Amino acid sequence: MTILVTGGAGFIGANFVHSWLGSHSETLINLDKLTYAGNLANLTGLETDPRYQFIHGDIADRALVSNLLTTHQPTAVLNFAAESHVDRSIQSPGAFIQTNIVGVFNLLEEVRGYWQGLAELARDQFRFLQISTDEVYGTLTPTDPAFSETTPYRPNSPYAASKAAADHLVRAYHHTYGLPTLTTNCSNNYGPYQYPEKLIPLLLLNALAGKPLPIYGNGTNIRDWLYVTDHCEAIQVVLAQGRVGETYNIGGNNEKTNLEVVHTLCDLLAEIKPRDYQALIQFDPDRPGHDLRYAIDATKITQELGWWPRMTFEQGLRATVGWYLEHPHWVDSIISGEYQHWVATQYQGQS
Ligand code: NAD
Ligand code: DAU
Repeated sequence: MTILVTGGAGFIGANFVHSWLGSHSETLINLDKLTYAGNLANLTGLETDPRYQFIHGDIADRALVSNLLTTHQPTAVLNFAAESHVDRSIQSPGAFIQTNIVGVFNLLEEVRGYWQGLAELARDQFRFLQISTDEVYGTLTPTDPAFSETTPYRPNSPYAASKAAADHLVRAYHHTYGLPTLTTNCSNNYGPYQYPEKLIPLLLLNALAGKPLPIYGNGTNIRDWLYVTDHCEAIQVVLAQGRVGETYNIGGNNEKTNLEVVHTLCDLLAEIKPRDYQALIQFDPDRPGHDLRYAIDATKITQELGWWPRMTFEQGLRATVGWYLEHPHWVDSIISGEYQHWVATQYQGQS
């Protein structure tokens, strides 16, 4: 038994690889292009595990994907690979179209051919799981009900539009060809191994370095935060028990304004390394097209599959701060490379 994971050197993918190998005996093949966001240091300790194999490559490379499928005969393909940062999609959308749409199309085409050639039982048991986002649903007002699986897609950023396109392709491959697909739409993750372009690790590392804490607009935008290991558990539950062709929303039941996030983080850091971190908060120009609020109604996955988030925001944030403080080498290697360039482009004058 083997599963093929794509994008397993990124934040959520790496957490998934660790959690899968911690509880399964199946072999896991990890196909990752190692973009700026992919980092083999996220997978340290697995190099000698006979159940694990890393392949450096692109999901859009059909010959490579075809060869991997034929050689390893996976029972499931889980697609984490994506360009994932909204601000980068605003600056340079091309890579998002290439990986999140063309890449997913190429991957689906190869998976379809492989799946159609399997024996009947293996065909029934095979799953293609697309890891998607709540951003495909667009934005909510403060009083709207949370996103459910029947909320219409209304993506607002190039990133969200590219993920929505991928979700539609996955849906079409199930509807047209019968490919046994599953799709998960998850809210904002945080936790170990997250690249510090995203809000929580960015604030955390800037605070520790005494740098400004950039909050876009007035800080009242709301996100629903989920600790990454809770997300990984939900994916495993959907893979094992999800109904073929269905989508499942995954959320943390943790709606916070960005101001609440930064204040909670500053208070927590002040306990561990005393200093007035709140004074570092700085209001920056707003993100173009900034979605006001995301919120997930996770009733379906809870009622059908018995999953719910275990970590509170305070527990998760404490665990996250602890992890970054305990991994200074990981942090140093990240912030000394491409990251400098990104910070200089996105936050003028702050690198
Ligand atoms: P990430 O940016 O940290 O990692 C993405 C990984 O994909 C990297 O290892 C990168 O090298 C790899 N990759 C990129 N293009 C590739 C290609 N063409 N072929 C092979 N590998 C490629 O992203 P993440 O935050 O871990 O997100 C993983 C998935 O979860 C994405 O699909 C994202 O849309 C989705 N998601 C993320 C969040 C979040 O809060 N981070 C929430 C919901 C859903
Ligand atoms: O909702 C799920 C999505 O969450 C995932 O699909 C995306 O891959 C992931 O990047 C994330 O998107 P967001 O845009 O919500 O996350 P980000 O961390 O970039 O921003 C969170 C909020 O914080 C958002 O309202 C913008 C704001 N923000 C972000 C940054 C980087 C700031 O105020 N300042 C910043 O410097």
